[in-house]
Amino acid sequence: MTKVQLEVRGRVAVVTIDNPPVNALGAAVREGLANAVKAANADAAVAAIVIASAGKAFIAGADISEFGKPPAAPSLPDVLDAIEGSAKPVVAAIQGVGLGGGLEVALACHGRVALPGAKLGLPEIKLGIIPGAGGTQRLPRLIGAAKAFPMMLSGEPVSAGKALEYGLLDEVVSSDVVTAAIRLAEALAAEGRRPVTSAATGELTEADREAFEALAREALKKADGMPNVLALVEAVRASFALSFAEGAAVERKLFLSLVADERSKALRHVFFAEREVAKVPGIGPEVKPREIASAAVIGAGTMGGGIAMCFANAGIPVTLIETAKAALDNGVNRIGAIYDISVSRGSLTPEAKAGRMALIKPAVGLAAAAGADIVVEAAFEEMGVKQQIFGELDKVAKPGAILASNTSYLDVPTIAAATKRPQDVIGMHFFSPANVMKLLEIVRPQGAADDAIATAVALGRKLAKVPVVVGNGFGFVGNRMLERRTRAAERLLIAGALPHEVDAALVGFGFKMGPFAMADLAGNDIGWRSRKARGLKAAVADAICEAGWFGQKTGRGYYIYPQGARAGQRCPEVEALIARISAEQGVTRRSFTQEEILARLLDPMVNEGARILEEGIAARPGDIDIVWINGYNWPAWRGGPMFWADSVGLDLIVKRLEAQAAEIDDKALEPAPLLRRLAAEEKGFASLKG
Ligand code: CAA
Repeated sequence: MTKVQLEVRGRVAVVTIDNPPVNALGAAVREGLANAVKAANADAAVAAIVIASAGKAFIAGADISEFGKPPAAPSLPDVLDAIEGSAKPVVAAIQGVGLGGGLEVALACHGRVALPGAKLGLPEIKLGIIPGAGGTQRLPRLIGAAKAFPMMLSGEPVSAGKALEYGLLDEVVSSDVVTAAIRLAEALAAEGRRPVTSAATGELTEADREAFEALAREALKKADGMPNVLALVEAVRASFALSFAEGAAVERKLFLSLVADERSKALRHVFFAEREVAKVPGIGPEVKPREIASAAVIGAGTMGGGIAMCFANAGIPVTLIETAKAALDNGVNRIGAIYDISVSRGSLTPEAKAGRMALIKPAVGLAAAAGADIVVEAAFEEMGVKQQIFGELDKVAKPGAILASNTSYLDVPTIAAATKRPQDVIGMHFFSPANVMKLLEIVRPQGAADDAIATAVALGRKLAKVPVVVGNGFGFVGNRMLERRTRAAERLLIAGALPHEVDAALVGFGFKMGPFAMADLAGNDIGWRSRKARGLKAAVADAICEAGWFGQKTGRGYYIYPQGARAGQRCPEVEALIARISAEQGVTRRSFTQEEILARLLDPMVNEGARILEEGIAARPGDIDIVWINGYNWPAWRGGPMFWADSVGLDLIVKRLEAQAAEIDDKALEPAPLLRRLAAEEKGFASLKG
């Protein structure tokens, strides 16, 4: 079937793009479009042309899967030049999304009509690139750079209403967008008018340039060296200084160099991994999620409160349950205070806050969970406590309710065994702060019903989370790998590095924080308690907790925080304590380069990731990457730990792990069989896909 159809209606040729699922502009579509415009121009019976599309989307942009492959003619800029150069007016009929190259197609047309639900944007920045088919030149000419630049910088689409207000659309119609586009096309033909965006300069005023430059200064300050932000500024600047053709050439050159950049490759990997993670092996579309109209959350602590907020934010009524009134009041007050911060920042109206608070119903005692379609338990992280709660829930929860534990480490089947309905018991592991962090690990123990998992995935999306289904096993995916990094960080201290050096290496890599600043923020006592429960020791971390240095909340931890400061300062006492422990262990301290520190922190994580894949705890390497990007702030432009490992080369990682294993008594450092096999075959984790 051809991906572009041409049909003449009266005196207008309607060109329809039909390339499911989202009408991406692959080579066949580009060729089809070029041919259709040419044919319509050659047809004397045709006075004007409409570009429309089949399906839900107008056009979702370039076909991202073609990036990095040899370019196939015709290029999108050439097709767009042909559209704009058409002697007969061309009008875009836009329904659904017009993104990236899709909006650029519309910009090359002489008129644009859309349905109210249409969304228009240039999201290339999120893929580490900039628009590459004239977008940086045409959009400023059409609506002014002061409006165009923020659209390209954020990558967020605007609504049809906004686009109309901006002058990006000529018309918004409530239905039958193709008929409306035909009407406009006929009118333009009758008037003999063919508004050509690339020839327009009316919006590029001095005032607009000044407004854009002010925005550009701000953007460059925050750009963090990302080359696409720098390139975007350069390209938009060119729209003021140069002719359209010269500006388009600048844009194209920048676009091509960004496409080839490692950072954009990583972001494209993340784009596809995010979509793949939504496909749960063994659960097809025939498995229908259960309906979730109400929820209950057990535990009104920081975690439980954050989870309750997620439900309220999504408009789902939620009962927040505690064992005693005082704890409940504290929890509700804490939620109110968090919403108040949003109100004071202007991101939430007082009415919206009131609406959300009204959805949260505080209650004492588990009996209040009786009516809920889903119960999320966020109580103390101890098996006895969880089993008791689930035993009780079994008695009160309604039949078919999903019973989920927010446990971060514990065995979900053991929790499920406290009930007579293990098919309904799953893990739903939120990340702190639960109302902010995107990741939701959905733990799928053997024996859980498929539709229980499908329900959790659908719910996760409704809560604006990135749900990743993982197998049951200590620490699941994220925390299991984190533990390897935590141990490595402690070992580095004893071997000779200092907390600020370890943290600086990870910040230099792109993390927002290093492990010690993070531990100080979260509270060092949390890890201490968990180690004690498991009979584990960590000489430095334990000594710091024994001294009462729990982190920011006590004014000191690995660092000192004078008068509640959030940025820690080096602490001579901690550094002396570390040196003493090294001496006690007979270690001659030495210095480490940033590169060595990174290898020691990250290689063991990759190794654990390989084991997680061997055991089927994660379905695909990309799933692990998505966990780390959304739950632990792994920089997206580094693609996640498994993508990063491929970019380093698995052979080198095996060698470095072997060297560590020879020096350190820790079996976990032995390269995993999967890692060894891939390295020996000169392959990467990416080869495991599909
Ligand atoms: N290229 C290739 N495949 C794409 C695609 C694209 N631009 N956009 C979406 N897809 C694919 C997805 O991979 C997915 O495939 P599978 O079903 O095989 O997993 C399928 O289309 C559906 O996508 P979603 O699951 O994301 O569906 P959705 O309905 O939730 O969202 C969407 C649809 C809003 C279009 C979203 O997919 C999206 O934001 N796409 C990317 C848009 C984009 O970044 N465009 C710019 C491309 S770069 C460019 O155009 C450069 C230029 O200037 C020339």
